Amino acid sequence: MTDRIVLAYSGGLDTSVAIGWIGEATGAEVIAVAVDVGQGGESLEDIRQRALACGAVEAYVADARDEFANDYAMPTLKANALYQGHYPLVSAISRPVIVKHLVKAAREFGATTVAHGCTGKGNDQVRFEVGIQTLGPDLKCIAPVRDLALTRDKAIAFAEDKGLPIETTKKNPYSIDQNVWGRAVETGYLEDIWNAPTKDIYDYTATPEFPPAPDEVIITFAQGVPVAIDGHKVTPLQAIQELNRRAGAQGVGRIDVVEDRLVGIKSREIYEAPGAMALITAHKHLEDITVEREQARFKATVGQRWAELVYDGQWFSPLKRSLDAFIEDTQKYVSGDIRMTLHGGAAIVNGRRSDTSLYDFDLATYDTGDTFDQSQARGFIELWGMSSKVASTRDQRTAGK
Ligand code: ARG
Repeated sequence: MTDRIVLAYSGGLDTSVAIGWIGEATGAEVIAVAVDVGQGGESLEDIRQRALACGAVEAYVADARDEFANDYAMPTLKANALYQGHYPLVSAISRPVIVKHLVKAAREFGATTVAHGCTGKGNDQVRFEVGIQTLGPDLKCIAPVRDLALTRDKAIAFAEDKGLPIETTKKNPYSIDQNVWGRAVETGYLEDIWNAPTKDIYDYTATPEFPPAPDEVIITFAQGVPVAIDGHKVTPLQAIQELNRRAGAQGVGRIDVVEDRLVGIKSREIYEAPGAMALITAHKHLEDITVEREQARFKATVGQRWAELVYDGQWFSPLKRSLDAFIEDTQKYVSGDIRMTLHGGAAIVNGRRSDTSLYDFDLATYDTGDTFDQSQARGFIELWGMSSKVASTRDQRTAGK
């Protein structure tokens, strides 16, 4: 029986050529797998037709938008995950959901190997292959760009030579990856890290310098997940979509960073994640009133570690699963409303209310009704500082000796 390979297929030039390229190099039949994670653009049906026209023996297409929002974006929100304090893991969380579908398709069509279009320099090859090794330990991986010398020039020549139904002249100077959680743009002119991004780079966000009138929004959360916007019920996917539109119109969520890739390179990336950044900001502010202090402090560390694991391709790892359990436990009381103003590139919280709040007005107030017993503070401070005071006394006694 002829060997079968499932290929992560985007519909673009490189993966369209990869279908025939892999076929010629290996003699295997290629099954194209296209997964909709809210990247927009062409319909899945058009992508399916192109895959078949480019020589795929079968095409597997999946609308994974709700799955992606529920099972990948929401855990990222609960973790307030920002890699290196900036990046809400846009591409990093889409790889594991694509991996799930690749492995499912491999089983359905009896494939032995999974192929993807990544280069050998990025994080995504790691995320795909570590994920595939974990979910399908018997499956092999192959990356035509990295392993079969499929360069851009060769791809264009191949497409023209075979008359593939794909545009080869349109030259995009950037490498772009996008889904409903955000958009990542790199390479070209951006590789000089002193160059400011030009306007044409952005798509999810409008220029924040000339914003429309301020937009006030109330986001209702239940156990860490957005469930309503301005009183209208929403699914996680709808919440992200609506905030992409409204926060995007105000230029919220533009991020320009030089980040540490897993493969040891520092690389410059421009992100746009208006919905994600508005949601993370609101969610964090709701945690501020509903999560107990020590739990909250520890959770910040856990969230950072979670972000690093996910960035590094460890979505399906035991540690990530354990951290998920911790994070989930912290979300028990993260319910209530956050009011925020979206304007001129900023999402500023200006009101919060929750039935499970730990904010105690009577303890906090400086007005009448204050129930906080200030006389206890002196003794507390005395003991709180004791350990440092004892050490300092010793340091002074031994100084210069
Ligand atoms: N640097 C980001 C990451 O590793 C995004 C990579 C996506 N690719 C792109 N063409 N911008 O998660």
